[in-house]
Amino acid sequence: MAKKNNSSDTFAQEVYFPTMIYSSKLHDAEEINRELIKNIRHEQEEDRKGIQRSNFSNLGGWHSKNHLYKKKAFKDIANRVRQTAAKISEDCGYDPKFKLDIGTMWSIINSPGSFNRSHIHPGCLWSGVYYVQAPKNSGHIEFTEPRTQHLMDQASFAPDTKRPRQCWTKVRYEPIAGKMIIFPAWLYHAVMPNLAEEAKQEDAERIIISFNLSQYPVKK
Ligand SMILES: [Fe+2]
Repeated sequence: MAKKNNSSDTFAQEVYFPTMIYSSKLHDAEEINRELIKNIRHEQEEDRKGIQRSNFSNLGGWHSKNHLYKKKAFKDIANRVRQTAAKISEDCGYDPKFKLDIGTMWSIINSPGSFNRSHIHPGCLWSGVYYVQAPKNSGHIEFTEPRTQHLMDQASFAPDTKRPRQCWTKVRYEPIAGKMIIFPAWLYHAVMPNLAEEAKQEDAERIIISFNLSQYPVKK
């Protein structure tokens, strides 16, 4: 019997159940961030203590109240979040009778040494972060493989070779002022400690706006 040549067999990879992380860079971030820093610091002045609850992931930072999107001073950034949310809604083929909109929006100021332990955001579809001030080494955000079964037994991967992206079990994003990252609310994420070395404390702080998104019926 002749030897079979299998080189013409088909071979395919199909990806299902992906974890989608969206990002956007605001073209006018410098101006927006200048205003936001002023307004967030004003919030902090008014609410020195901030929100401190044991079930919050933030350790060592200041956490504003959760309704900043209702305040005039945060209207512009709230609208930019809504614009990005509308793109996600369209990209995912959501029902246009619903609007993917902000349910809560808050600010966090992480001074050097502070960080966020791993957590998820229950009760919404998507969550996001917008970086207002992000000095060098002020804390990468790290997302972890959500299929925990997959973490139980890992394959050995070729050394000195970049592992294919679909086989990663975590991914880190560097904080960049003006960048917005939106991720599934169920995706575990943590923020590394702020190790910024700016001489002035206020320049070394990592300042963010964070938010949760849910679908709301469009008002007629
Ligand atoms: Fe979070």
